[in-house]
Amino acid sequence: MSLITAQDLSKTYLKGETKVEALKGLKFEIEPASFVSFVGPSGSGKTTLLNLIGCLDKPTSGSLMVDDTDVSSLNTRMAAAFRGRKIGFIFQDFNLIPVLTVYENVGYPLVLVQSTPSSERKQRILALLDAVGMAEQRDKYPDQISGGQKQRVAVARAAWGGCVQGPSRTGPKASIQDVL
Ligand SMILES: Nc1ncnc2c1ncn2[C@@H]1O[C@H](COP(=O)(O)OP(=O)(O)O)[C@@H](O)[C@H]1O
Ligand SMILES: [Mg+2]
Repeated sequence: MSLITAQDLSKTYLKGETKVEALKGLKFEIEPASFVSFVGPSGSGKTTLLNLIGCLDKPTSGSLMVDDTDVSSLNTRMAAAFRGRKIGFIFQDFNLIPVLTVYENVGYPLVLVQSTPSSERKQRILALLDAVGMAEQRDKYPDQISGGQKQRVAVARAAWGGCVQGPSRTGPKASIQDVL
């Protein structure tokens, strides 16, 4: 069973009077636990596609299933909830929150999205920090760590959803280290 399925997926932007067909009739499937890159020249539609999969934007036509949900049918509120539960973003420039510590940055999605009891939250944050090798730096602020360390924190922050909810504590660790 695929995790993401696109059928005849298209996205057209309107720039004044001009139509820009950023994506046209895309069809693909992505299996669970796979590592996929979208490669293409600037302007070929990579960001557009990631915005659709990440529920930040909607297709003009076609269907896009993400984990059994037709994300093209979600309204803004539902899309936000879906993103919160299912999608992890690692930004190119990491976008860590400068006034929060490493620990607080990783825990932020859990505070925002989930009503996780605080003891469980703490355990999950520590497991994530441990998985990316940043447990010892947890009280530092983003401007006190290196670029590579910021990237690790960004990976941990993005990974709490799918990875850490699993029953095993070794499973998530392995999958984050695969990403790193
Ligand atoms: N918000 C927008 N409004 C109008 N055109 C856009 C918008 N975003 C992207 N485009 C156009 O869609 C095409 C694909 O852009 P994009 O997805 O950003 O490509 P990539 O990420 O591969 O560089 C480009 O021609 C771009 O100019
Ligand atoms: Mg882009």
